[in-house]
Amino acid sequence: MTKKRVLSGIQPTGKLHLGNLMGAVDNWVKLQDQYDCYFFIADLHALTTAYDDIAGLREATSQVLIDLLAAGLNPEKCVIFRQSDLPEHAELHLLLSMITPLSWLERVPTYKNKIEELAGKDLHTYGFLGYPLLQAADILIYKADFVPVGQDQLPHIELTREIARRFNSFYANVLPEPQSLLTQFPVLPGTDGRKMSKSYNNTIALADAPDVIMKKVSIMVTDPARMKKDDPGHPKVCSAYEFYKIFSLRQKELVAQECQQGKRGCVACKKELGKAIVDYLAPRQARRLELEKQPEKLKEIIVRGNERARLVASKTLQEAKQAMGLL
Ligand code: TRP
Ligand code: SF4
Repeated sequence: MTKKRVLSGIQPTGKLHLGNLMGAVDNWVKLQDQYDCYFFIADLHALTTAYDDIAGLREATSQVLIDLLAAGLNPEKCVIFRQSDLPEHAELHLLLSMITPLSWLERVPTYKNKIEELAGKDLHTYGFLGYPLLQAADILIYKADFVPVGQDQLPHIELTREIARRFNSFYANVLPEPQSLLTQFPVLPGTDGRKMSKSYNNTIALADAPDVIMKKVSIMVTDPARMKKDDPGHPKVCSAYEFYKIFSLRQKELVAQECQQGKRGCVACKKELGKAIVDYLAPRQARRLELEKQPEKLKEIIVRGNERARLVASKTLQEAKQAMGLL
């Protein structure tokens, strides 16, 4: 029996943080044992917004590769590659653009949201509008069965399916419709209570030193109504508690109970949480240090991953060109 294929990508916007790990990459690490997995660094996608910071992009791309490996992706078990090294993605993107109605792209919710979120940045570009179509090409070119993504990406998978259907009905049955594998975790809050995100500057990074982590956790937003340690607390509104829920650290029920009964002080509670995060990251950080010393090995991993990805991508591209009468 052949394994089903999984594909996912991550934008190199900086070093990976706990939100990326818990929300995506830890799941990828599990999937690599069960599926035929392709994971890539979506540097072209990053260019759609970071087109004016190419030095930052270059650095972030190598940091993300180190982080992915440190998090446990194993190049013996999955294919790890860099999007821009596979021009096949760009070529399929162009072919798909011929049959993509502008209105389909304009109505994708991330389009307007991101423009509002990054208000200082001019995103009225051709490339940015095409962001989800490039993502569709990424997915369809591997004929992926499953795409593990978070909630915010579901409209992109839906668009991918619509594009595949349209292509298949116009030309020939070449592009199978993928399914999303929704990642279970709720969105991890950052130290300020908003979603953990590089653009909010509220992350805990895989590469943060233990004292930095302890400091960041100590300033996390907790129940604002709590003045004294023995006031009854409300874990529901506390960012630190969101972490307890996700880590399932000690019994989260116990933490909630003690908090609600006013038997647990926030300072101690967060110290315990900080230590648990430091412990969780420790083996990953050790691997990170090792990898940083081996730039040749990193290069080899990407070159090899690119080659393996190309075997699949070039085949699908040929089929698509054939279907469109280009061969
Ligand atoms: N848009 C995705 C994100 O920001 C990254 C991405 C690019 C992706 N291409 C993909 C994810 C293909 C899954 C499949 O998270
Ligand atoms: Fe949050 Fe812990 Fe304080 Fe309760 S005791 S409000 S769970 S930090």
